[in-house]
Parts: sequence; structure tokens; C-alpha cells
Amino acid sequence: MTEKAVETLTEAEARVELARLAKALAAANTAYHTLDAPEISDAEYDALKRRNLAIEARFPWLKRADSPSDQVGAAVAEGFGKVTHRVRMLSLENAFAAEDVAEFVDRVRKFLGLAEDAVVRFTAEPKIDGLSLSLRYEQGVLIQAATRGDGEVGEDVTQNARTIADIPQRLTGAPDVLEVRGEVYMSHADFAALNDRQAAAGEKTFANPRNAAAGSLRQLDARITASRPLRFFAYAWGELSEPLAATQFEAIARLAALGFPTNPLTTLCDGPEALLAEYRRIEALRATLGYDIDGVVYKVNDLALQARLGFRSSTPRWAIAHKFPAELAWTELLGIDIQVGRTGALSPVARLKPVTVGGVVVSNATLHNEDYIAGRDSRGEPIRGGKDIRVGDWVQVYRAGDVIPKVADVDLSRRKDGAQPFVFPKFCPECGSPAHREDGDSVRRCTGGLICPAQAVERLKHFVSRGAFDIEGLGAKQIELFYRDPILPVKTPADIFTLAARDAANPLQKLKNREGFGEVSVAKLFAAIEARRTIPLDRLIYALGIRHIGETSSSLLARHYGTWEAFITAIDRARDQTGPEWEELIAIDGIGVVSARALVDALRPENAERAEIDRLVGFLTVLPVAAAASDSPVAGKTVVFTGTLEKMTRAEAKARAEALGAKVAGSVSARTDLVVAGPGAGSKAKDAERLGVAIIDEDAWLRLIGG
Ligand code: IVH
Repeated sequence: MTEKAVETLTEAEARVELARLAKALAAANTAYHTLDAPEISDAEYDALKRRNLAIEARFPWLKRADSPSDQVGAAVAEGFGKVTHRVRMLSLENAFAAEDVAEFVDRVRKFLGLAEDAVVRFTAEPKIDGLSLSLRYEQGVLIQAATRGDGEVGEDVTQNARTIADIPQRLTGAPDVLEVRGEVYMSHADFAALNDRQAAAGEKTFANPRNAAAGSLRQLDARITASRPLRFFAYAWGELSEPLAATQFEAIARLAALGFPTNPLTTLCDGPEALLAEYRRIEALRATLGYDIDGVVYKVNDLALQARLGFRSSTPRWAIAHKFPAELAWTELLGIDIQVGRTGALSPVARLKPVTVGGVVVSNATLHNEDYIAGRDSRGEPIRGGKDIRVGDWVQVYRAGDVIPKVADVDLSRRKDGAQPFVFPKFCPECGSPAHREDGDSVRRCTGGLICPAQAVERLKHFVSRGAFDIEGLGAKQIELFYRDPILPVKTPADIFTLAARDAANPLQKLKNREGFGEVSVAKLFAAIEARRTIPLDRLIYALGIRHIGETSSSLLARHYGTWEAFITAIDRARDQTGPEWEELIAIDGIGVVSARALVDALRPENAERAEIDRLVGFLTVLPVAAAASDSPVAGKTVVFTGTLEKMTRAEAKARAEALGAKVAGSVSARTDLVVAGPGAGSKAKDAERLGVAIIDEDAWLRLIGG
């Protein structure tokens, strides 16, 4: 049968055709992946997939829920299923010093507009060093367990969680929908016994209880998890069909009553002094607990206040983790390597004689930058009493949690005769281009741009990383290989999207025949790349790897501009750093002048790199990003607050407006939709009048957003 050209299909025909293709591709997938007996050739398979995509592109509304273009490889995925968290799983801001805690309490008070002597009550509880898990119960039955993942999407580990004795399978008297969150961990005794068993069986041993817990929970075979002694503490919740209680403390007590283990050291504290006293008490108990903790978590007790405080991009405003001091060790500095990063930064890395720091063997540590090695800070003031660091020195290494170990100090009494000060290279060790340091920048950067292989490779790695394109089967290791590949080189992100076509055009040396690549893995890789031809705008902006433009800024930009076309047009117009588009860019809350400059500089139309970006975008369908909570009446609107607000603080007003999808700007322009003016409003209200922008008072604003 000859196929009808996609352009000539009617809607009804397209619908039938999409159903046929879904069936044919599903059958082909099963034959290939599950039965290991392919029935059609790769080329035929690709042709079906392309046809499916082309029809979907013409009739997007006909795209099926089981569309083959959303499926990567086999229906039964290797690895874990994905779970989208209905309520995001957040991390915590860290405090290290007593001042950080006082500042946290102060910030909470100010945000809520409370008087300086007002008492805010907090819970204090140990921060368990394990991995977080979300457990979903419906009608009292455990139906799903998921790891945190990136906070939005985690891994489905339901079968594994069912094997953990601490986790109840059924609850009585629980809300219809209850998501319980907490930490999976392993006790010291169980960890030691597990490592002994592993060693005796010739299996790999774990570096610490946290790794052992993570490795045990994330087992594809739940029988292995069952054989590992995992435990659980509940300390938070996600989606709920009804509130658990009015306070954090009571909510945790309710979870305990439902049968969850909760930490017995949880207490209530009024104010920073009480929190610090509790911190010292828990720190003193640390060695006797029998499990690892790495700090104390403080949470605002009143859940109504928690709701008012809300969240920043990835952490709640109502909680903080007060970490224990980092662990230390002394060792010999064997050498200093210079690594070249994605933005060309030359980073010195200490090669150390391996040493155990807090249970983990450390052989590399960061030395930050050339000033740090020379014993001064960015303003030229001495650090470490001005002592420089030389190869052969004895240095003090420390690590806190998961962060890269750092070199803190140097022991001059053990310095060897003839040790020479370290000379920081003035040329890039990877490509030989001059490495410059701009005024006020502590970092020396390679000027080679994309001709520098190190920068190009690092950018590609960033491009495929988790918050960016996140292409399964194309990680850092594969990027290194493809970058140097003589037959199928990938030198720039756009090259990734021509990989399959280039492979198809080269029948003699197909990728699937190479060592390290099987037929299945290549098909999966190409399917994963294909699936990412459609990408949300925020991920695309982040993937470009522009200096100062991280995930948060990318998401702000995407939400502000909505589409790639609007974004790139505005950035092009802002390139002289004057005019309305520039003003608009720097008025986006959270985008400072430094990031705005980095953005327009990186995307200058005359740059070779910009041409590469345009080529890349040509291969993609960029999904527009809607402003958050688009059903709110202020979603997508630009709002300016001015004058004194009486019902809430400025910070709270701004956070709530943003949570409802509004953009909050600092100054009034023709693009402002609404000015909320309190008593004493001055020039901004006048600007609004002059520009004909609507002005309302605080009460009207509260009515508008529903109180
Ligand atoms: S509360 C919205 N409480 O620490 C806040 N987290 O660094 C939810 N953690 O991802 C977290 N003990 O895995 C909370 N008592 C505790 C905790 C705790 C350990 C972990 C958790 C979180 C991480 C943040």
C-alpha cells in the first residue's frame, strides 16, 4: 500500500493513521526489545516514527496519550519508572553559624511583619543523613513510593519500600490522600554488618551508611532491598486531602499515632537562643544515636505561618538546616591540576595523598582560584594569615555533606626545603589560548571559547545534564567519546540532533556495530534524542550554559518571555544595554544587571556561538512556558507594589503575587499592568497615572487575589 503524503491527510484520516502507527510501533518495540526478534528493519522503524511525528506536528490536538513519540525504547523501561511529585520535594537552606540562625529567625519575623520582640515558635529535630522518600497512601493503603529525584520527578521504588519494616502498608484513621515524607537510613551497626557480609561475598562495600541506604533502596530487584536493613523516619508530608493538624509538632505526633517512626529528639523552641541550645544538645548526643545525622532542622511550628511564608525556588522560607561543622583531616598535597570548565574558568584542583575524612576517602579537593592558593582573598586581603599553598605541603582538608572537599589550611612547620610557590598558568592548559582575568573577577578564564576542547566538552555535558536536555544514554562519558569520534563527531549541541541521520547515511560503519554500543542501546539513544526535539523553553535557556544563567534565572526568563521567539527578539533588541527591552530585562525580578549582561553578550548575533544556537533551535520544537498558576486573575500580569502595605509585608506580597503567576517589577513602565499603592506612594504612583496604568489599593488587591 502506498502511503498518503502527510500534507494531504484529512483530520479523520490522520486520526486513523496515528492509531495504526501507534499499534505498529508498539508491536515493533515488543518484537525488538522484549522478544529480541525484530520484525522490521531499523530504517522502516525510523520511517514509521518520522511519519508519526510529522502527523502530530500537523495535527497536534490528535496526539495520542500513548503516542510513540513520547516513548523512549521499550515499554518496560530499564531502570525505574518515573513519578511526578504532586507537591514538589524541596531541599533546605543551610545555616552554619549561630549568626545564620539568628538571621533566619529575623527574616521569618520580618517577612511576616512581626514586631522585633514577637516570639516565633519552631520545632527542632535532627537532620537525618539518608535519602528522602515520599510515600503515598490512598484510603489508608500504601500505593506508591518515590525518591526525591530532581524534586519534581522521582523514581518509583514502591516495591522496594514495601520491604522496609518501618513503613506501614496500611493505616487506620488517615486522611483519604496522605503523602508522608521522610528519610530512609541505615544504622551504624547494620551498616557495619552489611559491609562485612558484602566483603565476605566478594561484593562491593559502601563508603558510608548514606551510600549504603541509597544503594539498597535503588535496587531493581526488590528482593535485594528486602535483604538490606533499611529504616525510616517521617518528618514531613506532601499532598493531603485534609490537614493533619494546626502545627508542625502536632502533625508529626499525628504521623507517629498513625504508625510512622518519628524522631524522638523533636522539640519545640521559642527563638534563636532556644534553637541554639537544642542544637548543642543534639550535637552532644550525636555519637550515641547509632545513626548518622548531619545537623539540626528548624521549622516554623504554626502551619498557617508556614503557608504564609511559602517557598523560594527550591527551599521553604519556613525551615533551615543548621549543619554540624565539617569534618577535617591532614594530608600531603601531591600536585595541583588545572581544570577548564564550561565557561572557561581555570580551576585549580588539589591532588592529595588519599585520606579518610568523615568516613569517605578523599583524594581531590578544590583550591578555588589563584588568589586562594597565594593566600589572599578577592580584595587582596590575606587569608590563612597570608600563608600560600605549595606542592608537597601538608594541608588540612574538610568536607561538609555532599559538597566537594576543600583545602582549608596549610602546616608551614612541615614545609619541605626548596618548596616553590605555585605559578598559576597564564595560558589555557587545554588549548593554549591566553587565560585572562577581568578586573574584579577572582577567576582566570580561557579565551578560546568553543575552539577550546575542554570548554566545548563541558558545555556539551551541561547541555545533556539533568536540568537541561537530560538525554537518557547520553551522559558525560558518552559526550567525551562522541566529541572525539572520527566518524560521528558531536562538537556542538546541534550535532546531537543530526546524529541519527548521519549514522543512517553511513551504512558501512554503523554505530550499533561498534564496541560499547548494541543495537538496543543505539535505538534507545536515538529515540531519547528524538524525544528531546521537543523541549520546554526554560530547559533550553538553561541548557545553553550561559554564565550566571542557572535554572532559576532560566525559569524566570522563560516565564517572562513565554516563547523562544519573544525571548530572542527581546535579547537582540537589548544588546546595546539601553532602550525599553534592556529596561524590561533588568526589571525582571531575580535578573540582575550582571546576568542580563552575560545573556546579551553570549547571544550577540555576530558571535559564532549564536549561529550554532540558531542552528540548534532549528532542530527543535520549543514549548512555550506559561506563567505559573495561569488560572489566577493576575497570572502573566506585571505588578508594582509601592507605598506602605498594611496587611502584609512587601516580601510577602511579592512572594504571593509570584506564586499566582504575576511578575513583580521594581519600577513602573508602559509594560506594567497594575500598581498596588499603599499610603505614602510617591513617584511610582505618579508614573502610573502618567502612563495610564491601573492603580488599586491593598484591599482591592487582596480581593482580586482572593484574600
Ligand atoms: S524537612 C520542605 N526534616 O534534608 C522541607 N528534611 O537538605 C522538607 N532531611 O531533602 C525537608 N532530615 O532529605 C526535613 N528532619 C528533617 C530532615 C530532612 C533529613 C533531608 C531531606 C531533605 C534534605 C535537605
